[in-house]
Amino acid sequence: MKSIIESFSEHGTFVQPDTLEYILSKDDPKKFTSLIVEKLMEYPLILTVEQVKNIEQETKIDDISKPCMDSLEKKELQKKMLSTIYGGALQPEMFFEENDLEYDDPDKDGQIHLPDGETEEIAIPQLIEIKKLKKWKPPSSEYEPEIKIIKDVTGKSTCEGKTSDFTKLFLNRYGVLRKILRSQRREMANVMPINRIKRSGVKDIQIVGIIEDVRTTKNGHKLIEIEDDTGTATAIVLKDNREATQMASEVILDEILGLKCQLSKDGDLLLVQSIVFPDISIQNERHRSEVPVCAAFLSDIHIGSKQFMETEWQAFLRWINGEMGNSRQKDVAGKIKYLVIPGDTVDGIGIYPNQDKELSIIDVYRQYETLAEQLQLIPDHISIVMQPGNHDAVRPAEPQPAFEKEIRDLFSDKDITFVGNPCYFSLHGVEILSYHGQSLLDFATNIQCLRYNEPLEIMKAMLKKHHLSPVYGGYTPLAPEHLDYMVIDKVPDIFVTGHVHLATIGEYRGITLINASSWQSQTSYQKMLNFVPDPAKLPIADLKTGNVTMMDFSGK
Ligand SMILES: [Fe+2]
Repeated sequence: MKSIIESFSEHGTFVQPDTLEYILSKDDPKKFTSLIVEKLMEYPLILTVEQVKNIEQETKIDDISKPCMDSLEKKELQKKMLSTIYGGALQPEMFFEENDLEYDDPDKDGQIHLPDGETEEIAIPQLIEIKKLKKWKPPSSEYEPEIKIIKDVTGKSTCEGKTSDFTKLFLNRYGVLRKILRSQRREMANVMPINRIKRSGVKDIQIVGIIEDVRTTKNGHKLIEIEDDTGTATAIVLKDNREATQMASEVILDEILGLKCQLSKDGDLLLVQSIVFPDISIQNERHRSEVPVCAAFLSDIHIGSKQFMETEWQAFLRWINGEMGNSRQKDVAGKIKYLVIPGDTVDGIGIYPNQDKELSIIDVYRQYETLAEQLQLIPDHISIVMQPGNHDAVRPAEPQPAFEKEIRDLFSDKDITFVGNPCYFSLHGVEILSYHGQSLLDFATNIQCLRYNEPLEIMKAMLKKHHLSPVYGGYTPLAPEHLDYMVIDKVPDIFVTGHVHLATIGEYRGITLINASSWQSQTSYQKMLNFVPDPAKLPIADLKTGNVTMMDFSGK
C-alpha cells in the first residue's frame, strides 16, 4: 500500500482513499499503479476513482480482479480505516493527510420533510416543546407492554479473567454448537471424537471442532487445524473441490464447524469433502404479536457528539408524538409500542484518539443526563429497551452488561428496560436478538467476500455460524464468561445490529435483519476516509404482520 501511495506522491499527487481501495482491488495493484502512472497525461493534485477508471477504459488495462475476493492488503487497509472510524481494539496510526476530500452523497427518497435552515451543530441538544394533541390517540396506547428477557449476561457475569475461564468459555461454545450441528445437520449425525479417527477404521469421517488455524498452501489448497475436547487434527481442502474451497474462505478462527472427510492413506491427514456450518433451518416457527403494535429501532444516537443530528432528531420526536408527517406516517407513529436502542446511546469519552475535539459535551455523565432529558419527550405509552455499545460507559468486553445503577437512575421517570449487549428478548411474543455489532468489523476484515458497508451479508454469516463474535483477540474484546453469550443458540424472529451507521433491512431464512442507522452525521474522520453513513433513519417492524418499513428523517 505504502509503495502505491509513494508512486503517486513522487509526482505530487494525493490518492483518495476510495481510489486506493479501487487500486488495491486489482489482482496486481503494483502493476496496475505503474500502468496508471505511465498513462497519466498530467499529474493532478488529487487522483479520483473516476480518473483512474477513465484511463482504464481508454487504455483497456486488463481488469482480472475477482468479484468476491478482497486482497489481504485491502483487508489490512480496511482494518486501519475501520478502527479509525468506529474506535476499537486496534488503534491505527493515521495514514492519510487531512485534505479536502470530496465524496458523493447517494440519492435518498421517501423521507419526512424537515424545516428549512441549518442548526449550529456544536450546541448541546436543546429540548423542544411538544404540544399535546388532543385529537391524536395512538392505538398502541391501548395495549400494555409485554417484554420478556430471554438471555442476557446482566447480573450473571462469572468471569474473573483466569485461564480456566477461557477454557470454560470455549468448552461451552463447543458443547452448544456441537449439539446444534448434530441435531440439525444430517451430515453430522455420526460425529466422532478426533482421538478415535485413526483406530475407527471408518471411511467417511465426521468431526466437529473449533478452528485453530486456516491457511492457504503455496499450491492453493486450504489447510485447516481443528480441535475438539479429545485432540487436534489437520485437514486439507484440495483446490479442485471448489465448493469446499469457497466455504473454507469463509472460515474464521475460533469458530465451531463440522468437517466431512476421508483419512489419507498414511493416516496423517484428513481430506475434506465438505465443510458444514450449523446454519439456520428453513423450517423455523415464526412468532407474531396478536395485537397490531410496532417496534422501532433507534441505534447509535451518539448524544454528546458535535455531529449529533439535532434537527433530524427533533423531527423524529415531533413525528413520534403525532405532530409531524402525513396521515400515513402518523398512522405508523401511532402503532409504535416499543423503541429498541441497540447501543452507542452517547458518544462517550476516550473511545478513539483526539475524540475530545469531536465532542459537544465532554462529560460522559452529562451526556447521559442529556439523553435522559431527550428521552423524556418520547410518549409515555412507548416502552424503551436500551442496550450499551462500544461508546457507552460499561465494560468494553462483550458480552456487555446493562448500565450501572448510577446511569439507570437518570432515566427513572421513563419506562426503560435496560439490557446487556447482546440480548435476546421478546416484545409481545416476537423474539428479538439485539446486538450492537462491534464484531461486524471482525467478520469484514477476516472473511474475504464480506464488506463492512454490507452489514446484512455479515449478519447472514453470523447466523450461518450461529455465533456473533467467534474470533478471540480480534477487533472485538471478549470476556471469558462460563457461558458463551455470543452463541446464537436460539433462532430469533428479528436480528438487529447497529455500529456501522448504515440503514438496511433484509431477510435470511425467515429472520428479519435490520441495521439500525445512527443519529450522528459524518464525522471528520469518516469524511477524511470517505465513509458515508446513512443516518437519521428509523427501521420499524410491525410485530403482528412481520412487515418492516423505514422512516427517513434525514431530509435528503
Ligand atoms: Fe456508533
